[in-house]
Amino acid sequence: MEYVQLGRSTTQVPKIGFGTWQYHGGGGVLRRAHELGAAFVDTAEVYGTEAQVATDLAGLRDDFFIATKVSPQNLHHSDVLAHCAASLKRLATDRIDLYQVHWPNPDIPIAETMRAMAELVADGQVRYVGVSNYSVAQMQEAQDALGDVPLVSNQVKYSLGAREIEADILPYCQEHNITVIAYSPLAKGDFSGPGLERVAGIANARGKTPAQIMLNWLVSQPQVIAIPKTDRVERVDEAVGATGWTMDPAERTALTSS
Ligand SMILES: NC(=O)c1ccc[n+]([C@@H]2O[C@H](COP(=O)([O-])OP(=O)(O)OC[C@H]3O[C@@H](n4cnc5c(N)ncnc54)[C@H](OP(=O)(O)O)[C@@H]3O)[C@@H](O)[C@H]2O)c1
Repeated sequence: MEYVQLGRSTTQVPKIGFGTWQYHGGGGVLRRAHELGAAFVDTAEVYGTEAQVATDLAGLRDDFFIATKVSPQNLHHSDVLAHCAASLKRLATDRIDLYQVHWPNPDIPIAETMRAMAELVADGQVRYVGVSNYSVAQMQEAQDALGDVPLVSNQVKYSLGAREIEADILPYCQEHNITVIAYSPLAKGDFSGPGLERVAGIANARGKTPAQIMLNWLVSQPQVIAIPKTDRVERVDEAVGATGWTMDPAERTALTSS
């Protein structure tokens, strides 16, 4: 596994972590991720998987980096504090490594939410603050409100089949040392969509799988990590096998040329 620094923090995180939306758990996925050095899990209060993550991490909590999220309807100051406490309980832990605002809510000021986030960091209940689905302007507003607390990450949809963030969010994050956590990095497991026409051919030529080409393309870029979801242990090995090698520039160009 390869590691990168999380935003402007001193913490290293694996380039591949594991998502848990529609995750069923119980199959050893997170334990295998730990064995392979990919001890990063992403959940959210809305997924209903925090308790399952806690169960799957029994005895491993201190080795794992746990990211979770507060839902957009819960972004008032007192709600953030209460919903963080509820997530901590479900996760059976005394600290969340990365607490993310799941989606912006135009009806609740970002500054109010970030005041609560900064308090949670000061109290030690949260180590790092992140956001998800934020625009550049919203990231700037969040960082202004956080003051000395760094905004370390923005979790956004990013794959070879969904490259919209390349217009502004990705370059902004790279310039300001904010980690991009790529969600739906495997295009939800459907490798036949637009933008993915050349994945299978390059996978065959390289002796890799399509999923490995998709993930390697993502995490070879500065400041980008990816969180595929799987319920299958063998796919943990496959995802981790997407790191430790690089594609040629010509292959990368071929993947993105239409
Ligand atoms: N912040 C947000 O708004 C947001 C939105 C969406 C997702 N997310 C996060 O990102 C995570 C990943 O995104 P996602 O679940 O939408 O999509 P994804 O990771 O792109 O795709 C997951 C699908 O791909 C399949 N899959 C996994 N490995 C595979 C492989 N090697 N070959 C073929 N198929 C494979 C999985 O099936 P099996 O389980 O059967 O392997 C599952 O059906 C989520 O779990 C969640 O944590 C965040």
